[in-house]
Amino acid sequence: MKIAVIGTGYVGLVTGTCLAETGNDVTCVDINVAKIQKMQAGELPIYEPGLDLLFHRNISQKRLTFTTDLALAVKDAQIIFMALPTPPGGDGAADLSYILGAAKDIAHLITDYKIIVNKSTVPVGTADKVSAIFKTYTDIKVDVVSNPEFLREGVAVDDFMKPDRVVLGTTSEHAKKIMTELYAPYVRQGNPILFMDERSSELTKYAANSFLATKITFMNEIANLCELLGADVDAVRKGMGSDERIGKRFLFPGIGYGGSCFPKDVQALVKASDENVYDFKILKSVMEVNELQKTILVDKVITYFNQNISGKHFAIWGLAFKPETDDVREAPALYIIKALLDNGASVSVFDPEGMENVKSIFEDKINYATDQYSVLEGANALLIATEWSVFRNPDFEKMSAIIADRVIFDGRNLFELAKMIELGYYYNSIGRALIEVKEDEMLLQQK
Ligand code: UDX
Repeated sequence: MKIAVIGTGYVGLVTGTCLAETGNDVTCVDINVAKIQKMQAGELPIYEPGLDLLFHRNISQKRLTFTTDLALAVKDAQIIFMALPTPPGGDGAADLSYILGAAKDIAHLITDYKIIVNKSTVPVGTADKVSAIFKTYTDIKVDVVSNPEFLREGVAVDDFMKPDRVVLGTTSEHAKKIMTELYAPYVRQGNPILFMDERSSELTKYAANSFLATKITFMNEIANLCELLGADVDAVRKGMGSDERIGKRFLFPGIGYGGSCFPKDVQALVKASDENVYDFKILKSVMEVNELQKTILVDKVITYFNQNISGKHFAIWGLAFKPETDDVREAPALYIIKALLDNGASVSVFDPEGMENVKSIFEDKINYATDQYSVLEGANALLIATEWSVFRNPDFEKMSAIIADRVIFDGRNLFELAKMIELGYYYNSIGRALIEVKEDEMLLQQK
């Protein structure tokens, strides 16, 4: 099939590339000239595992092309995907100006029937608004389909190629038929294509992400309680997760959820509820708890240093909001750095992929190390903010020789407690026993 994808951000680019991989002719459009030129020259603007291979293969096979010319992309396309940003507006509601603007532009350009697919996360009712725009600006018939993405950064290619489910919001039988053909290669394993009305489809996306954010937040609160009650969150997690109704996944406590989706989507659903005079209490609490959780590591640091960290120096492992991405949007590490600086401390950081993005935020206010060991030089403590695999099994001998004091605050529970006792570290993690060094004796002490 001939497809146009409008917007070459993270979602658009993964979508376009993966659609080309199953033999479709895909033209990706963006208004950013420099970005399009970069991709025309075969350069990927984002880091996403596995995307590189598919990107180059489909460009060389001429199934994947890039342009700034919307008219050219739209002309022959049977299906037009919109993967445009929906940033939170000043009031927390999703800003729809990009989507509605693109719909108007497309309406002026088309001369025959098209299926317009919305991939962006949008408030309930957006498909109706997009349909209304087409009705206003053209006599040509279109079907507007809601098709939310469920792509996790870091495994987005896999998520697209083998989705748990494909959600399609449309009541048009013709659109259903074409979209079923398009997605058939991706659901061969038997995972469902779920058809529903547009509004239910739009809400499904918000409901899924808000539920996951709630699940994490619930575990973060259980972890905080574990510390006070002398329980171990790892044990509690396993005990809970073995119940199939709860499930093992997404139960890992940490320093709060981040990224470009969860914070924005939870906020947007709260806003939509408020607008409809519904008080979504649980989600409001989720937002509040997550704010506190993002700096819980700094609270622990300040307590350890007797309420004064001015003049102290800290090393941070991990900046990206999660491993296998360079994305630092809403990353807890950013809040941690800011809180440390606000309290008069200095900071050195290392992340395998996120350094450039953080440089553009903190510039020369912090130090940027070249590896996970040199970042420890002169540090009074190490703080771990992202669970990159490379941090999981470090050379402790090398570390101990560099770091002045053996003090670790771990926001991602990377190490076994027994190991830290053996190594003689002060080790403060999330929802587990505090390992303290007292009078040359390692004591496993509950807080
Ligand atoms: C998410 C959704 O999973 C995806 O379906 C959607 O379409 C886009 O948003 P993503 O933002 O890439 O994907 O990240 P995800 O892997 O879901 O993690 C989100 C946040 O939750 C991260 O900050 C992560 O560290 C945190 N998290 C996740 C936990 O703290 N504990 C967990 O057990 C799982």
